[in-house]
Parts: sequence; structure tokens; C-alpha cells
Amino acid sequence: MKRTVLALQPLLDNEMQQLSDDYNVIRLWEANDPVSTIKQHAHDVQAILSTYNSSGVSDRLISALPNLEVIAQFGVGYDNIDLVAAHKHGIAVTNTPDVLTDDTADVALYLMLNVARRAVEADMFVRVGRWQSGAMPLSTSLSGKTVGIVGLGQIGQAIAQRAAAFNTTIVYHSRSQKDVAYKYYDDLENMARDCDFLVLACAGGEQTQDLITYKILEALGSKGFLINIARGSVVNEEDLLIALRNQTIAGAGLDVFANEPDVPAEMIKMDNVVLSPHVGSATIETRSKMGQLVLDNLSAHFEGEPLLSPVKLAG
Ligand code: DGY
Repeated sequence: MKRTVLALQPLLDNEMQQLSDDYNVIRLWEANDPVSTIKQHAHDVQAILSTYNSSGVSDRLISALPNLEVIAQFGVGYDNIDLVAAHKHGIAVTNTPDVLTDDTADVALYLMLNVARRAVEADMFVRVGRWQSGAMPLSTSLSGKTVGIVGLGQIGQAIAQRAAAFNTTIVYHSRSQKDVAYKYYDDLENMARDCDFLVLACAGGEQTQDLITYKILEALGSKGFLINIARGSVVNEEDLLIALRNQTIAGAGLDVFANEPDVPAEMIKMDNVVLSPHVGSATIETRSKMGQLVLDNLSAHFEGEPLLSPVKLAG
């Protein structure tokens, strides 16, 4: 008999088809009344397919599914999953690291280039016919600058590699010092003061909530750019708005926001910001690999094999 998976969001068509071939899939995003759909299937569900942008996997949801065994997250970040509750109920959790590292790092680089070289503005400058009336205002070089990376995990390191190829100096701040050649700062404010680009590549969740406050932005200074490909929660968005409004910092390149998909109306009007709709992993190739990893983790779990990418559960 097929096992039942509660899917909070879909995978790409091909992987979704494979999922449906192997499991009974409850397509929660299509349900008119998700709460009664969950109640109706509560005893059948053995796995949840969640995604980095789906509704949360809360203690309440986990507790409502007595036969749940595994939560397979489509995404490297899992700040939407209550890991303490999963641990308490003995539920395994998996995510999709590695396969999205390169694409997500690329987004950090394009945001850096876009905001510093005013690429979006340049495109608009040509399209609206302003070139005929004179040259565009000058932009800022990437070359020769210092890039401070917050969180030197796989994605942070891939950003470092790419940024170094643009002739920048890399420094970093993370919970602990790594065995790398880049200069380490244990104090974020000191690093912000010393760098031109502050690039956020850390995990979301309680530990990094509001890590970037006005004080850090002030230290980054009026020539500095903030780049965020991590989670909106890492930045105090009110403080960022003030810093952008007052030109406390030069600009920001943002792929993630506090209340996605809502972006503050004031930010949308600002010309010192480049906005992107959380697309770090959003390529056909990577989304397909992420889906395959979700499928492989589910099979490994139900076949009693070691999980391919388990998430360490809170103790
Ligand atoms: C993730 O996988 O957590 C990313 O945010 C997706 O872009």
C-alpha cells in the first residue's frame, strides 16, 4: 500500500509526478479548507513535504499527525520547521543543501553588481530614452573593495570564491572561526565598519533574528552596501528603511524580506535598492535537483537507509 505524504507546496512537474507515482499525495495548497483536509487525513500521513516558503511546520501540525515519521524540506533553510517539536515527537527532518549552493551564491553576486553598478537603473535609462539627454550618473566599482560575509557555510564560501574573482578582499563573521585564509571578525560591528559590502549568508531563525540593526548599518556607512540572500528575519527591516531613507548606507540588494511576498511600499520606490523575489535557488536545474533530493530522502527514510541530508535536531 502506498504511504501518504502531506505536501504543503508542489515540486516541479517531473518530481511531482514521481512523488505521486510512489505515494498518495495530499496537495494541501489546492485544498479549499486546509484545516479540515489535515483532520480528514491525520491518521494516514507519514511524511510532510514542506518548502522554504510554505506555511510553518509547527508543533500543532506535528502533534495533529500521530503517524508522522519524516519532514522532508525542499530548501536548505528550515526556519519554518519547529525542530524542537520534531525532536520531541521523534520525527526525522531532511533538507536540500549543496545542490543550490552555486545558484544562490550567483544571486548574491548579481545583487552586488546590480546595486553597485546601478544595472537596473542603467537598463531603465536606455529604455525610457534618457540616454539621448546625457550620460548616466557614475556608479561604484566592485574591484578593490572589501566584502564582509556573515555566515561562512557552503553558500558563504561560494560567495567568497566568486567575489574574490572580482578582485575584492574577503573577510567574514560567523559563530566560530573556520580554517580558511580570509580574515575573521568575532565582532560584527567591527567587520561592518571595515567592509564595503556586507553580505548576509547565514541561517535564519531565532539565533539570527534582527542581527542587522541600525547600529550595524551605521557602521557599514554611507559608502557601504547591504546584500541579503539569507532570510528577511536577519535584518531589522524598519532599521534598514531608515538607513536607506537617510543614506546612512549607500544601498541594498535584497532577495529576501521580512514578510514575503510583501515588500514595504517605501522600499519599492527607493532607487538605492535592488529587489529580487527570493530566487536564490530558482533555476530549472537546481529546483529539479532539490526535488530529487526530497524524493531520495523520503525513499531512504522509508527503506530504513541513512538519510542523504538529515537536519540535526535540537536536543
Ligand atoms: C532555501 O532553500 O532556503 C532558499 O532560501 C531558497 O532560495
